[in-house]
Amino acid sequence: MEAIVYVSNTGNTQRYARLLADQINLPVYSLEESKRNLKKGTEIIYLGWIMANGIKGYKDANEYFSIGIVCAVGMSENGSHLEEIRKANFIPESIPLFTLQGGLYLEKLKGANKMIIKMVLKKVKKELLEKSNRTDQENNMLDLMIHGGSRVCVENLYEVLSCYKENFIQKKG
Ligand SMILES: Cc1cc2nc3c(=O)[nH]c(=O)nc-3n(C[C@H](O)[C@H](O)[C@H](O)COP(=O)(O)O)c2cc1C
Repeated sequence: MEAIVYVSNTGNTQRYARLLADQINLPVYSLEESKRNLKKGTEIIYLGWIMANGIKGYKDANEYFSIGIVCAVGMSENGSHLEEIRKANFIPESIPLFTLQGGLYLEKLKGANKMIIKMVLKKVKKELLEKSNRTDQENNMLDLMIHGGSRVCVENLYEVLSCYKENFIQKKG
């Protein structure tokens, strides 16, 4: 594994990419920068933010690089919607996929993105508020949707880090 490449819109995915880079000592690039700095076929960890189940930049990155691990950053809990996201983005079973909870900064969003997310938030918030017996995860989501903010933390990367150590460090010997 040679580098970490990401696409971020409001900064959460970029923060995860940098946290990961600090932990495993790999260079980190935005997808745009990466094509100027890395050769075609370089083995990378890819992180992209989730928009309507699509992982931003994944298709493009997958055509250019050899992706060893994919991290999809969204607003739901770590580890949620894995199968849905895998299917929607045509990620082969052989590639480890992780979903990470990012955050929500409505004030940083513009145009269509802002309109779409506002509609989604209205619907999901209503459903959650009407629900009795919400789980801790649902309360966490609701809080994020009402107050905004970021849930990025190094603890959310622990599974990614152990996957990297098991599959990519030992291989090197
Ligand atoms: C238009 C739009 C659609 C989104 N769709 C999803 C989604 O389908 N699933 C999800 O978990 N998060 C969704 N999100 C939330 C973002 O993935 C989340 O805010 C993420 O942390 C953004 O990362 P960034 O700060 O790196 O841009 C959506 C956000 C926007 C603006």
